[in-house]
Amino acid sequence: MAATPIYNFSAGPAILPPEVFERAAEAVRELRADGHAPGAPGIGLSLLEISHRSKPFAAVHEAAIALSHEVLGIPDTHEVLLLQGGASLQFAMVPLNFATPGAKLCYADTGAWSSKAIKESREIAAGGRGHETVVVSSAKQSGYDHIPALPALPADATYLHLTSNNTIYGTEYATMPEVDVPLVVDASSDIGSRPMGLERAAIGYAGAQKNLGPSGVTLVWIDRSWLEREVPAGVPNILRYKTHADAGGLFNTPNTFGVLVLELVLEWVKAHGGVEAMAARNMAKADALYAALDGSSLYVPHARADSRSRMNVTWTLGGAPEAEREALTKRFLSEAAAAGLDGLKGHRSVGGCRASIYNAFPVEGVTKLVDFMAEFERKA
Ligand SMILES: Cc1ncc(COP(=O)(O)O)c(C=O)c1O
Repeated sequence: MAATPIYNFSAGPAILPPEVFERAAEAVRELRADGHAPGAPGIGLSLLEISHRSKPFAAVHEAAIALSHEVLGIPDTHEVLLLQGGASLQFAMVPLNFATPGAKLCYADTGAWSSKAIKESREIAAGGRGHETVVVSSAKQSGYDHIPALPALPADATYLHLTSNNTIYGTEYATMPEVDVPLVVDASSDIGSRPMGLERAAIGYAGAQKNLGPSGVTLVWIDRSWLEREVPAGVPNILRYKTHADAGGLFNTPNTFGVLVLELVLEWVKAHGGVEAMAARNMAKADALYAALDGSSLYVPHARADSRSRMNVTWTLGGAPEAEREALTKRFLSEAAAAGLDGLKGHRSVGGCRASIYNAFPVEGVTKLVDFMAEFERKA
């Protein structure tokens, strides 16, 4: 244990609740029966050494899926799958399964991750699928500093793909847009952070490594009616949603550890008041940080006020002449790290700083950062 607490602002893999670390460590030593229920008897084996088809793991898997519905509000009309391959695999799997000749796959381009999703749809089109990739809105021209308004969408669009929170740029849809076409949502970096209308997505996905658990497990939810659509020939079985759904989510060996941790994180969210309570806490943390940025003449927030993320707060250091800014930013980051404020370096494509304040991030860490920033500015 470090002598002074380290506040972990990493964008992902990211901070998880200490209770989850404890319970996960215990399950690695010895899994308990009934989905690792507290008080249940130990099974005499580690979670890491049992079959994914064994009864003890089935209980963990079932509990993870049940809690995804209950805690995250994913309706029973949707199949929940816990897949591998990260959110990035979903960028490809969605068009692979649903791009048919003449189809219009619409995308809102709100940052690097949206762009990657768009690229995959285009790549699949280049292979001769005959669909169109339509970028309906983009914030690229202004450095992805806001969520652009959506224009009228083609009535026959197969779907509109959105990235609900843009981890790198620090922008977020305040609410899920009301549109007349099916939504596909990448909620990797704000899932579980607030009630966000996940039920409105025909397909949604989230890499677990920010708000849900470790890397290597991706929560996917898909309207069952979409599982009945004909998938174009040539798509390998493992890349078809129906394959996974038909096999009860166990078509191949899942990330068993990841599934357990996801289950434990959802239990933690539930025990701490659910996504509504997360939202209140997250709002208080984000408000404190944005107030510090807005009240400063040194720090410059990246995101426009109407598009600000409650999960990833991004800023650069202004004030100093251009040539000195980089050195000043480096000094800010190294002094922050020395003060126990870790992981504040902005993504290389934006520079500056980024504070990722996911569900498990404590309010005290934000207070400490705000105090540090004020002190740094006073001395600068
Ligand atoms: C919004 C968003 N989408 C997709 C990804 C890619 O996730 P993965 O690395 O799990 O493929 C990330 C990763 O940070 C992300 O933040």
